[in-house]
Amino acid sequence: MGGILTIDREQFIKSARHAAGGKNVIAVVKNNAYNYGLEFAVRSFLEAGIHSFATTSFDEARRIRNIHNDAMIFMMNPLYDFDSIRALNLHITLPSLEYYYEYQNTLAGINVHLEYAGLFNRSGFEDSDEMIEILRHQADKPPDERMRISGIWTHFGYADELEMEEYEIERGLWFSLLDNLSSQGYDFDIVHAQNSASFARDGLFEGHTHLRLGISLYGSRPYFELEAADYVQSLELKAEIVQIRCIKAKRKVGYGGSYAPEKDSRIAVADIGYGDGILRKRAAFDCIIAGKRYPIKSLMMSHMIVEVDDSVTLDDEVIIYSNRMRIDEFTNKGVGANSEQLGALNYQSLKRVILNDAEVFG
Ligand SMILES: Cc1ncc(COP(=O)(O)O)c(C=O)c1O
Repeated sequence: MGGILTIDREQFIKSARHAAGGKNVIAVVKNNAYNYGLEFAVRSFLEAGIHSFATTSFDEARRIRNIHNDAMIFMMNPLYDFDSIRALNLHITLPSLEYYYEYQNTLAGINVHLEYAGLFNRSGFEDSDEMIEILRHQADKPPDERMRISGIWTHFGYADELEMEEYEIERGLWFSLLDNLSSQGYDFDIVHAQNSASFARDGLFEGHTHLRLGISLYGSRPYFELEAADYVQSLELKAEIVQIRCIKAKRKVGYGGSYAPEKDSRIAVADIGYGDGILRKRAAFDCIIAGKRYPIKSLMMSHMIVEVDDSVTLDDEVIIYSNRMRIDEFTNKGVGANSEQLGALNYQSLKRVILNDAEVFG
């Protein structure tokens, strides 16, 4: 079967509402809403009072639009299918001078947010002079040929890195860009820059209309030093035990004899593996069975071997993630970013169960 992903919907909504802190939020729902499930997450965020969404794919934008006709949907990647942008009434990033000059005529009437490259520099304008060039160029056009410049944004690449000083630098560059624009009379209806870590560090910046949050809405700490109680994880990942075996000392188990106990040992074979999205680095640590931590000893495509004691039975469940075995705990242990662990989960092979909800989302 390959594991069961359980999400407590009430807790998911509670965690999202708490993470938003009463501010306007654009919820980042790319990659199947960090694999919580796009439809599930969007509906739950709406209940938590969040009505704006950001993603990178047309497919996800379409599915969000089907759920909520009035949602502000912000597309973080440069896009080229202008018919779909109009049909879905999307807000899009304006990523560069080159893009603008190439598509300026086609962009008429479309909501754009000017993107500042900053230190992250995946995309965006270099500085305020480039933006002012565009703003002036637009002002010279007849109104019906102009884009709607409704927002400005950037992304901080260092907000999650507490020990690096670059966050202060990128934040300073962003503030001076906004000051330059404002001093020339350019202000924007929608201003968004902060991810979960930046919000946790600084609160909502003055003059900013929205946060653009991902991981904190999903109940994980963007960095480990934060209070766990403020970020409650609604997701649990567990697997059934398919067999319990006794292994003689030095007898090898698994591919290439990956596990060979020093002394006679009892093992539980769990019905989940890397094919279901368990990262190999995650399998270097414990799982929980009947409330107790046990070491994972070997990871295969569809199975996992756990060294157990006599108390474990075939009826027990193997917990890989829960609020007691938090994703962010393993991020701190070097398994991979929160989003990396979530993104790896195999949406096809894992059975999904939504708790505290009448509707079951496939
Ligand atoms: C452009 C952009 N903004 C915001 C976020 C949300 O970041 P976080 O999940 O750290 O809150 C992401 C996530 O990757 C992103 O790519």
